[in-house]
Amino acid sequence: GKSPVTVTVTGAAGQIGYALLFRIASGQMLGADTPVRLNLLEIPQGVAAAEGTAMELDDCAFPLLTGIDVYDDARAAFDGANVALLVGARPRGPGMERADLLEANGGIFKPQGEAINAGAADDVRVLVVGNPANTNALIAASNAPDVPKSRFTAMTRLDHNRALAQVARRAGVSVADVRRVSIWGNHSASQYPDVFHADVAGRPGAELAEDRAWLLDEFVPTVAKRGAAIIDARGSSSAASAANAAVDHVHDWVLGTPDGDWTSAGIWSDGSYGAPEGIMASFPVTSDGQEWSVVQGLEINDVSRERIDASMAELADEREAVRALGLI
Ligand code: NAI
Repeated sequence: GKSPVTVTVTGAAGQIGYALLFRIASGQMLGADTPVRLNLLEIPQGVAAAEGTAMELDDCAFPLLTGIDVYDDARAAFDGANVALLVGARPRGPGMERADLLEANGGIFKPQGEAINAGAADDVRVLVVGNPANTNALIAASNAPDVPKSRFTAMTRLDHNRALAQVARRAGVSVADVRRVSIWGNHSASQYPDVFHADVAGRPGAELAEDRAWLLDEFVPTVAKRGAAIIDARGSSSAASAANAAVDHVHDWVLGTPDGDWTSAGIWSDGSYGAPEGIMASFPVTSDGQEWSVVQGLEINDVSRERIDASMAELADEREAVRALGLI
C-alpha cells in the first residue's frame, strides 16, 4: 500500500483539534487508501490534554492511523511533515489592540515557519486556521524562505461553505446543486462572499443577486459575521464546522477540485484581479492535486469590485503592521 503521510496539527488539544483529528485519522481528509501518522503540537500546558486525545485516537482503532506523537517543540513536530495544519493561535484578549494581536501571533507563526523551513518534507502543504489566519500564514511563509510560497495557505473554506449553505437556503435548493461561489479577501468581517458567478441548480447566481437588499443586507453580512453569531448561540466558537472546512480544504488540495466547480482559499497573491502581490488573500481557486490556481477571467462588477478591493486593502494594512513589527 501507500506509505504514510505525516500530518502535523498544532493546537491539537483545542476545540478544533478535537473535532479535526478523528476525521483525519479516519481517512476523510486524505482518502481511504492513505495511511496517516499524526504529530500533535501543543504548548506545555496543553500536552497532557493532547495525550488524552491521542489515547482516544488509539481507542478508535482506525486502520489508517499508523502512529501518534505529541510534542511541545515545533522543530520536532514539523520534522518530515507532509501536511501541516496550523490551528493553535493566540486569541484576542480583552483590550488587546490589533498590533498586540499580530505581535502575539508573530511569536507563534514566525518560529513555526522557521521550523517548517528547517525540517518539513519537500512536498509540505501548510494550512493556517488560527486567526488572524491570512496574516499568520503570511508570517509563516515569510519565515520559510526555502519553501515555495505556494505551499502556504490560509483557511477561507469555512466562509465558502457558509456561503454555499446560505445560497442554497435562499434558493430553496440542495447545497449539492450550488457551485462556484467565491470568497475574496481576508477571513475577517471585510471578506466578500460573491454569488455573481455561482450556478444555483442551473440558474445564474446573478439572478439571486438582483435582490440587492438580500445580497448586501443579508447574504454578505450573514456569511461575514457567522462566526460571531455562532459564538452568541452556542456560547462557544464554531469548532466542528471549522474542522470540517480544514478537512475539505486539504482534501481538495491533495485530491483536486471537482470538474466544473471551484472553491476558495487564502493563497499567496500573484496580483490577480488587481489584488496587491504578496499578501495571503482568498480567491476562487481550483487544484489539480498539486497546486492551487486562481480562477481567471471572471468579470467583476462595481458592487463586487468595491468590496474585494476593501478586503484586499485590509490585508495589505495587516502586512504593513507585521512588517513594522519585524515579523516578515
Ligand atoms: P482553542 O483555544 O480551543 O484551542 C487552541 C489551542 O492551541 C489550545 O489548546 C492552545 O493550547 C494551543 N496553542 C496555543 N499556542 C500554541 C502554539 N504556539 N503551539 C501549539 N499549540 C498552541 O481554539 P479553537 O477553537 O480550537 O480555535 C483555534 C483557532 O482557529 C483560533 O485562532 C480561532 O480563531 C481559529 N478559527 C479559524 C477559523 C477560520 O475559518 N479560519 C474558524 C474558526 C476558528
